[in-house]
Amino acid sequence: MTQPIRFYHRNAIREISDAPVTRTVLQYLREDARCTGTKEGCAEGDCGACTVVVGERDELGGVRFKAVNACIQFLPTLDGRALFTVEDLRQPDGALHPVQQALVECHGSQCGFCTPGFVMSMWALYKKHGHEYHGANRTVPTREELSNALTGNLCRCTGYRPIVDAALRMFQLPAPAAPVDTAALSRTLLSLERDATFQYEHSGQRFAAPRTVDALAQIKQQQPATRILAGSTDVGLWVTRQMRELGDLVYIGQVADLQTIEAIDEWLCIGAGVSVEAAYAELAKHYPELTEMWLRFASLPIRNAGTLGGNVANGSPIGDSMPGLIALGARVVLRGGELERELPLEDLYVAYQKKDMAEHEFVVAVKVPTRTGTRANLRFRTYKISKRFDSDISAVCAAFSFIADGDAIREPRIAFGGMAATPKRAAHAESVLQDADWHEATVRAAMLALAKDYAPLSDMRATDAYRLEAAKNTLYRFWLETRSHDPLPKQALDVRAVEAACAQAAAAAA
Ligand SMILES: Cc1cc2nc3c(=O)[nH]c(=O)nc-3n(C[C@H](O)[C@H](O)[C@H](O)COP(=O)(O)OP(=O)(O)OC[C@H]3O[C@@H](n4cnc5c(N)ncnc54)[C@H](O)[C@@H]3O)c2cc1C
Ligand code: FES
Ligand code: FES
Repeated sequence: MTQPIRFYHRNAIREISDAPVTRTVLQYLREDARCTGTKEGCAEGDCGACTVVVGERDELGGVRFKAVNACIQFLPTLDGRALFTVEDLRQPDGALHPVQQALVECHGSQCGFCTPGFVMSMWALYKKHGHEYHGANRTVPTREELSNALTGNLCRCTGYRPIVDAALRMFQLPAPAAPVDTAALSRTLLSLERDATFQYEHSGQRFAAPRTVDALAQIKQQQPATRILAGSTDVGLWVTRQMRELGDLVYIGQVADLQTIEAIDEWLCIGAGVSVEAAYAELAKHYPELTEMWLRFASLPIRNAGTLGGNVANGSPIGDSMPGLIALGARVVLRGGELERELPLEDLYVAYQKKDMAEHEFVVAVKVPTRTGTRANLRFRTYKISKRFDSDISAVCAAFSFIADGDAIREPRIAFGGMAATPKRAAHAESVLQDADWHEATVRAAMLALAKDYAPLSDMRATDAYRLEAAKNTLYRFWLETRSHDPLPKQALDVRAVEAACAQAAAAAA
């Protein structure tokens, strides 16, 4: 049985029955709907030319709007959702939306490739701060939040300053005359909601979107080879860049129980379908030391679509969330058929792309211990080393933690990405630290021990020697930032502030 894909687009409910399962939202827009305002730059989620906004009903019956990359989202994932593109911003009387007006006034309108994507990222931010309507709930983002919202939009030729100016300016302009009617949209989306698994089929390829964990478990039990699709920020590229045939897909974005974050006893349980953005937003409340890693994980549209469960399940050796989670003592919950089991996250990774997860099993949740009891004395840091500050893949990703017992180190945990075929703990370095004092001599010994723990590879991101040296230096930095009687401030170095101060000093000297 196949059902049409139903979603809201351009003031109407669209029903699509004849699109391949992996037809991207971008292909639909440009080739089928002829909405060519949305552009293709890279087709791999990097440039932001294809940025659109997707609306979905939230837990309170309102609508959550998220900027995502249309080039790597498959059309059936839109079922039950709303799609907005740059064509939707113009007002019925032809007037420009404040986002567009601000871009004109600040000379921020650039080439036809990047501008529509910038507009949609700005619109998502504008809506998030309640400016689509007149009212008391309007807020203005900080400059940091603003640049964070634009990290997924690249311009290869001119620059960003007029765009940032426009993003500030748009909050000073009057609200649009005809904003999106969120209440009506919520009712429309409710009418599209399905009671049971959404089933779609094209050319023999099947796409299922179950609504419960039991239904998902049943599908995986009966057809273990069916591939799980979550945020599509890894899987999408297998199609757009590698032209791979994926076979049948089961999409977890409609499984309500996988979209929750719950505090249970001394654990934070993050459902496998929770976006990277929402997961880090919650984790950073407990562990503010994760903030930099959060903001440097891909870009906002990728974090909006991608899930923490997908990052953990994919288990890339250069994935960013695993080292931090392992250092925090996270556990992963797996489900296969009727059975659920959990294991320390580091034990999930057996060898390169090989996991302790049977074909019919899937990730249900990631559990992270909270900062209670002796963990109140936890010292913890994560560091990402990449060629570009924003939106880049790690050459080395480091995470360190221990419980401070006076000067003594208890339960040290060190985990690295980019140093081995899997995200991996540093057993030798940890044993040097265990119960020793948090002094420079101990740290230097542990730095040497890292050479026993890792034999990294050389690739286009870094050489083996660079990786090992960088790994040692991150451990030293951890000590500098967390040692007792520390003459340096104890919070993480604000690299941007340091860079800005250096630039200022250089300018003053010139
Ligand atoms: C432009 C760009 C930048 C990126 N930058 C970063 C970065 O800075 N750091 C980083 O770590 N990653 C980065 N990524 C990779 C990607 O965003 C993450 O790995 C993301 O968390 C994957 O989650 P997803 O939900 O999109 O997974 P998907 O792509 O949907 O799935 C990934 C894999 O996991 C499996 N899977 C998903 N969910 C489950 C589950 N619940 N149970 C079992 N298997 C499951 C899928 O079958 C698939 O094999 C980037 C990707 C792009 C395109
Ligand atoms: S086309 Fe570059 S991010 Fe989609
Ligand atoms: S990519 Fe559009 S102006 Fe640079």
